[in-house]
Amino acid sequence: MIISRIVKGLIVSALLFSATAMAAGGGDIKVVNINLKDKAALQRGASIFVNNCLGCHAAAYMRYNRLAEDLDLTESQVRDNLIFGDAKIGEVMSTTMSSAEAAEWFGAPAPDLSVVGRSRGSNWLYAYLTSFYQDEFGNWNNTVFPDVSMPHVLWNLQGIQTAVFDEVVADNGSKHKVFKNFELNTPGSQSAAEYDRSVRDLVAYLSYMGEPAKLKREAIGIWVLLFLALFTFVAYLLKVEYWRDVH
Ligand code: HEC
Repeated sequence: MIISRIVKGLIVSALLFSATAMAAGGGDIKVVNINLKDKAALQRGASIFVNNCLGCHAAAYMRYNRLAEDLDLTESQVRDNLIFGDAKIGEVMSTTMSSAEAAEWFGAPAPDLSVVGRSRGSNWLYAYLTSFYQDEFGNWNNTVFPDVSMPHVLWNLQGIQTAVFDEVVADNGSKHKVFKNFELNTPGSQSAAEYDRSVRDLVAYLSYMGEPAKLKREAIGIWVLLFLALFTFVAYLLKVEYWRDVH
């Protein structure tokens, strides 16, 4: 009785889990493994970010000097390569575009990207940044974020792709389109593998920015574990010592 209830519970939760996983994925989202310890990747990602994203999106929780410290860069490297305009090293990454201007030009304000790594997660971000396509009217669209008002700002790297859709007829006769695959019509300056790496680097950077403390926390974690192992050993020696008199 109890066992069958447990089994039923497990089956229901497995079904619920796969339903939510599919709802979130739409079939397009795959797992990207990013490595936050790879400082070179984070540096490349930061460079892509300031060159291509900061014009519209701010990162109001990220200071340039924090970036220098976390990414193993000197302050002058940050000043020379990552700061445009007259921002100071102690300032946050703000954009020159006001949200009112963005709303006027793109129909929607470009949201602050400080914590987008946490709100959307790296798998979604990777899928989003690789799923821009040009529709039959020459407008940008995105299969992961349909009718998004952001243009494909990395098109010169990726090239221009179009999307192929299958037409599916439902039981009641209504038709709808289901995404099938992309076709790259105009090649960009990077190969598919190079663009893949650029997006991974950018996603790693966005993910770091969402939680800068993660880098330090993981490093501290190792020392805590080492300390606990050492402490266990000392405690064991003490125990042996105390019990010698008791026996
Ligand atoms: C020309 C201005 C512009 C540039 C440049 C730009 N974006 Fe955007 N972005 C937007 C706008 C506008 C939106 C809001 C889209 C909407 O809601 O339809 C947006 C939305 C987004 C979102 C979705 C946010 C969310 O959670 O809904 C992400 C992620 C994003 N941009 C990432 C980037 C990255 C990464 C870059 C640099 C490679 C970039 N953007 C460059 C204008 C821009």
